[in-house]
Amino acid sequence: MYRIIYKSRSVTPLNWTLVQDIIMSSVPSNEASGITGILLASETHFLQVLEGKFEDVNALFRRIFHDDRHDELSIIGFSVIDARLFRGWGMLGIGTFELNTKIESELMEKYGAEEDGIRFPLEEWKALSLINDVKLMRELPVWKK
Ligand SMILES: Cc1cc2nc3c(=O)[nH]c(=O)nc-3n(C[C@H](O)[C@H](O)[C@H](O)COP(=O)(O)O)c2cc1C
Repeated sequence: MYRIIYKSRSVTPLNWTLVQDIIMSSVPSNEASGITGILLASETHFLQVLEGKFEDVNALFRRIFHDDRHDELSIIGFSVIDARLFRGWGMLGIGTFELNTKIESELMEKYGAEEDGIRFPLEEWKALSLINDVKLMRELPVWKK
């Protein structure tokens, strides 16, 4: 099994409606091809993890690469993995713009800032650390109402 992590820039400012549109159309197709992962969005950037078989991850990445909703794609990591980090998630979607100001500032201190939001790191370990931090916060009261 393989994992691709990439960062890209959205061509339009992001909000939950736009992220949800991508998630809603991705989940059925990802489930059908055994892809799991997470799509993190700031107001300006995406950070996505795709996990699955070599052929499936590559085929999906090629489709995503050509999607004109984003550009400036950078591959952050491509690894062989022996277990999924996002088992059960056909695509988990999280918008860091929905974090409350206090938590957002703390994450900006830890990971840096980019265009008034949390900077999505280009180092694989840091990107996974940010993803893990935000994923653990899912059930905590740190989100805008
Ligand atoms: C940031 C981003 C992430 C995406 N993630 C997925 C995904 O996980 N699965 C998926 O099927 N499509 C995803 N898409 C949509 C694909 O780029 C593409 O539109 C979709 O797979 C349909 O492709 P097709 O029209 O060639 O069939 C994503 C698009 C963007 C902009």
